[in-house]
Amino acid sequence: MKGIVLAGGRGTRLYPLTLVTNKHLLPVYNKPMVYYPISVLMLAGIREIAIVTNPEDIDQFRRLFGNGKELGLDITYIPQNAPRGLADAVYQVREYVGREKFMVILGDNIFYGHNLPKILQEAVYHVENNGGAVNFAYWVRDPERFGVVEFDDEGEPVRLVEKPRYPRSNWAVVGLYIYDETAFERIEKIEPSARGEYEITSLNEMYLEENKLSFYRLGRGFVWFDAGTYDAFLEASNFVATIEDRAGLMIACLEEIAYLNGWIDEKTLIRRAKLFKGTEYSTYLKNIVSEYVESLK
Ligand code: G1P
Repeated sequence: MKGIVLAGGRGTRLYPLTLVTNKHLLPVYNKPMVYYPISVLMLAGIREIAIVTNPEDIDQFRRLFGNGKELGLDITYIPQNAPRGLADAVYQVREYVGREKFMVILGDNIFYGHNLPKILQEAVYHVENNGGAVNFAYWVRDPERFGVVEFDDEGEPVRLVEKPRYPRSNWAVVGLYIYDETAFERIEKIEPSARGEYEITSLNEMYLEENKLSFYRLGRGFVWFDAGTYDAFLEASNFVATIEDRAGLMIACLEEIAYLNGWIDEKTLIRRAKLFKGTEYSTYLKNIVSEYVESLK
């Protein structure tokens, strides 16, 4: 399965923050925002990742990750020439994905929760074996800001609406999706929405109409942020700082995940620690190595 990070768009809702910097490169506490969605793909076991972004921003992402090798990944950069909506951004990866199945994550979505890797891997397994698509839902106070899903009494999804004025449920559809190879032919049939965008919700609706959409609900033990407003940014940063300080464990430390997945070795960790010399991030990476060395004794 391939992984796609959607990191395009103008970020106009965050101006002037995003006037010269791509939103997904702004800091969420101690890491660029895009680290968090990439960590989710890695926790799902995905190593082949494409970042879709504005052509003028590709260089900056490339400076951050290169070809991904230092993180045990294979990263490709794909331009989205005009920001015409999330479904259009997904369409840009059709050649890259080919006949494979793929997981899409929005570059500004942050997930945290116990057993996240297990749920992700289960969802991946489901689409690999049955085809169709998977969406994830999360209960929020302000569903009108999101895509919203309505479930029937049996817990089956019956309706999807993008940013409804009067939401019929509190279940927001989060920015994490798994699709089979039929996604691209479906996108070709999408008409632009009232806001002039090719909506990812339209794509999900097509799967739903054919009974090919499964939902996983992320329960109360989860935290989901989409850092699309000033406040959400601050809340996400504070959240990461609080959790990391309490446990002394990092959220979305990509080197750590790569190492625990067996994708990079201790030498690479040390090299990365040297690159970030003098920071807490560097000390953290060095501690991972010394704990490993210690465990050999
Ligand atoms: C997008 C999707 C929406 C989803 C949200 C999650 O909205 O269109 O369905 O709930 O991401 O972050 P956007 O934030 O692009 O307006």
